[in-house]
Amino acid sequence: MGSKYNFDKIIDRRHIDSYKWNVKDNEYSFSIADMDFDVMLEIKEAIIKQANISTYGYTYVNDKYYEAYIKWWKSRYDTTLKKDWFMFSISVVASIDSVIKRLTKINDGISLFSPNYNVFYNCINNNHRNVIEIPFDYKDYKYSINWDLVEQGISKSKMFILCNPHNPIGRQFSENEILRIVDICKKHNVYIISDEIHADIDYNESRYVPALKVSDYEKLIVMLSPGKIFNVAALHSSVVITPNLEIKNIIEKGLQEDDVGEPSFFSIAPIIAAYENGEEYVIELNDYLKQNRTFLKEFFDKNGLKLRIIDNNSTYLLWIDISAYSSNSEEFTNQLFTKNHILVCSGKNYHEHHSSFIRVNIATNRNNIIKFCEEIKDFLLKGENKL
Ligand SMILES: Cc1ncc(COP(=O)(O)O)c(C=O)c1O
Repeated sequence: MGSKYNFDKIIDRRHIDSYKWNVKDNEYSFSIADMDFDVMLEIKEAIIKQANISTYGYTYVNDKYYEAYIKWWKSRYDTTLKKDWFMFSISVVASIDSVIKRLTKINDGISLFSPNYNVFYNCINNNHRNVIEIPFDYKDYKYSINWDLVEQGISKSKMFILCNPHNPIGRQFSENEILRIVDICKKHNVYIISDEIHADIDYNESRYVPALKVSDYEKLIVMLSPGKIFNVAALHSSVVITPNLEIKNIIEKGLQEDDVGEPSFFSIAPIIAAYENGEEYVIELNDYLKQNRTFLKEFFDKNGLKLRIIDNNSTYLLWIDISAYSSNSEEFTNQLFTKNHILVCSGKNYHEHHSSFIRVNIATNRNNIIKFCEEIKDFLLKGENKL
C-alpha cells in the first residue's frame, strides 16, 4: 500500500479559529464534519499561486473548473455531466436554501429520510415550509427503507431531499433505490434535491451511485462539492447541476439574487488542482478512514463496550447506537465532554427520535482515535462515571 500522504501527522487545530476544535488544550473534538488532515500539496500550492497574484477582486468561474468535475465524475463514476448543466454556488447549504425558496412555496411540504443532516431541517423550517419526515426502519442495528412511508411522505410533498451518501447513517443508496425514489417523485410531480457532498468517501468500496448516472428525471437537482473529500469547506466552492435548462434558469437567477453564486478568488484554482491531482489522495484517505473505523470496532469488541457502530459504506461520520447505556444522547454527550473532555455530536441533533445515538467524526489521526477509545472506555466502565 502506497503512503504518499501522512494521515498520522498530528495537527493541532485548537488555536486557528476552527469551529470543530474550538476547545481547550485538554479537550478533543470528534464533532462537525471536517477533517484533521493536511490538504493535498497541489491545493496549497494553487492557493499560494493565487495569493501571489495580489489583486483579489471579483472573479468569474472559468470553464476548467466545470471540466474538472466532469472528468472526475466520468473517470471515477462513469457518469456523464455536461458543462451547461452546471451552476456555481458558495456552498451546498446555500444552494439548498436558495433552491427551496425558488422551487417551493410557503407551507409546502418537503420530505426527507429521518434521521438526517440537521441543517436540512433548518433550511426547510427557516423558509416556512413543512418538514415531512420519512423514518428509516431500524432493526437489529440496521437501517432500511420503508417504502410505504416513502410513498406517503412524497405524496404530500413538493420536494424531496435525498442525502446520498447519507449523513449521519453513512448509507449509499443503490441504483434500484434511487430509481424507485425517482419513480415515486415522478408519480407525484415532486422535485428531488440530491445532496452528494459525501460522494467520494466510500472506503474504496465503490458503491456510490450518482443520481444523474441513473436518472434523467427533469425535476432532479444535484449538489456536488469538493468540501468533504478534499477538506476545503472554507474555500466555499460547490456546484448545482440540473439537465433541465428551464429549471436551471430559475435556480441560477435565485443563486444570483441570494448573492451566493459568485466565487471568491480562492474558490476556483485550488479545486481544479484537487480534482486534477486527487485520485491517489482519495484512495489513501479512504483506506485510512477504513482503518480508523476498524480500529474503533475492534476496540469496542475487545473491551466489551456495548456501543454498536452502524454499518456504513460512506462518510467519515460513525453513527453509534448507545442504547445499552443511555436513551438521552444530549445528557450522554454532555457528560462525556464534562467528565472525559471528548466532544461528539448528540443523535438528537439529527432529529427528535434519535436520542439513542451519537455521531463520531473519525477523520482524524490515529492518536486521536486511540484517545477517543481510551476516554470513552473510561467514561463507560469506571464505576463513578456509569450513566
Ligand atoms: C449532507 C451535507 N450537506 C451539506 C453539508 C455542508 O456543506 P457546505 O459546507 O457546502 O454548505 C454537510 C456538512 O456536513 C453535509 O453533511
